[in-house]
Amino acid sequence: MDPLYDRLARELRECIVTGVYGAGERLPGVRTLSRTRGVSVATVLAAYRRLEDDVLIEARPRSGYYVRNRPTKAIPAPARSAPAAQPSPVTGQELVLSLVKASNDPAVVQFGAAVPDPSFLPVRTVERALARAARQHRNRAAAYAFPPGLPELRRQIARRMSAYGCATGADDVVITNGCQEALVLALRAVTRPGDVVAIESPTFYGLLQALDSLQLEALEIPTDPVDGLSLEALQLALERWPVRACIATPNFSNPLGYCMSESRKRRLLTLLGARGVPLIEDDIYGDLGFGPRRPPPCLALSEGTGAEVLYCASFSKTLSPGLRVGWLVPGHHQARVEYLKYVLNMASPTVPQLALADVLHSGGYERHLRTVRSDYARAVGRMIEAVTRHFPAGTRITQPAGGFVVWVELAPQVDSLRLAQLARAEGVSIAPGPIFSATQKYRNFMRLSCACPWHSDVETALARLGTLTANLSIG
Ligand SMILES: Cc1ncc(COP(=O)(O)O)c(C=O)c1O
Repeated sequence: MDPLYDRLARELRECIVTGVYGAGERLPGVRTLSRTRGVSVATVLAAYRRLEDDVLIEARPRSGYYVRNRPTKAIPAPARSAPAAQPSPVTGQELVLSLVKASNDPAVVQFGAAVPDPSFLPVRTVERALARAARQHRNRAAAYAFPPGLPELRRQIARRMSAYGCATGADDVVITNGCQEALVLALRAVTRPGDVVAIESPTFYGLLQALDSLQLEALEIPTDPVDGLSLEALQLALERWPVRACIATPNFSNPLGYCMSESRKRRLLTLLGARGVPLIEDDIYGDLGFGPRRPPPCLALSEGTGAEVLYCASFSKTLSPGLRVGWLVPGHHQARVEYLKYVLNMASPTVPQLALADVLHSGGYERHLRTVRSDYARAVGRMIEAVTRHFPAGTRITQPAGGFVVWVELAPQVDSLRLAQLARAEGVSIAPGPIFSATQKYRNFMRLSCACPWHSDVETALARLGTLTANLSIG
């Protein structure tokens, strides 16, 4: 059962989404709500904090809590997903390569791959750090940084992680080639070919390809765009199937964008801990929340739950996807993961590690985060507003609490694979729904990346996408 504050937060969210409390309006005072609902002041504060983290409300000093000026009422979010609850091999991922290749084509308007446009990245800061790294560390820059990776970068990462509640030391971190390699290494450490892995549905296609390449079966668990992975469905699945690992993105999942509440994160950990199923946590978007607080990852909440967490992340969405620097905190699989990493590619490139250690040490990372989080929030708000204007009635869209993608549900008769083809012929890329499912569900869904510079061409491209969608919906 969800705690009281979660239930109160859900009720208030409903009131905001249905317009009972409109944009810019003041919510009831904390003491008033505590009295009228018969709950403690701490419960009301926790519920308001949850809504702040979901970017639905904001606290104004000495004035109270207000509904944010976002078009929350304009289009509802898609309903909780309902995938078939049985394991299956991953199919239909061949399409993805053409999607990611399109992301390198400057002539294409990029709503497809979740790759930030350079205008969202601290390109100059990284460039200077790379030059400094090559100059100042000439000999080290030329040497391998064997697993677990460059000590000063691991120290910087551990320091950051401890600031958001993880008891992680530098020796617990393994540097990887991006988050993708971290996920693959984590999977290889805890599974064997043929094993069943529980995943969110819809989920990031790179993860599906990892499962496919390791010959693992995917068990797609229903997932809600606000609450995340359905714990009830997961519990049933764990009772029924021999699940060897569970993978989740509790902070700003791709593509749904939800942030799981702390109480649900704890319940997830307890559920998995009781059955000895490790959680592979993908926290790649964890630093990109729109709310006032950095949400703790499951790793920070795992003590006392009995759960084992293998934590994966990278700097690809914040600093530079091209540097290919990520990391894994593999817990007691450390030795095995270091060995697997060595076998796979011996080491991650040294110069990017030196450069990123420098960017973190100098405070450049935190400074960039302060601006980019609001840049992404604005970009997402703009996209939601534009989809509201340009797409036919009946379209639904998520209201992510962080990250930079939105998940869009189109009319049931619209085939997003066909839409992707038509759009591509006009120089626009989108990510069609079926690539986010092991079994090619979500045919009438698409994911849009909002991390593109907003100018008239982009607005025109989105309007055109809306027209193509309207044409497909009338057959
Ligand atoms: C949820 C998620 N995990 C992992 C990755 C892979 O990240 P990287 O580029 O750091 O390998 C991505 C990239 O889009 C992602 O969205």
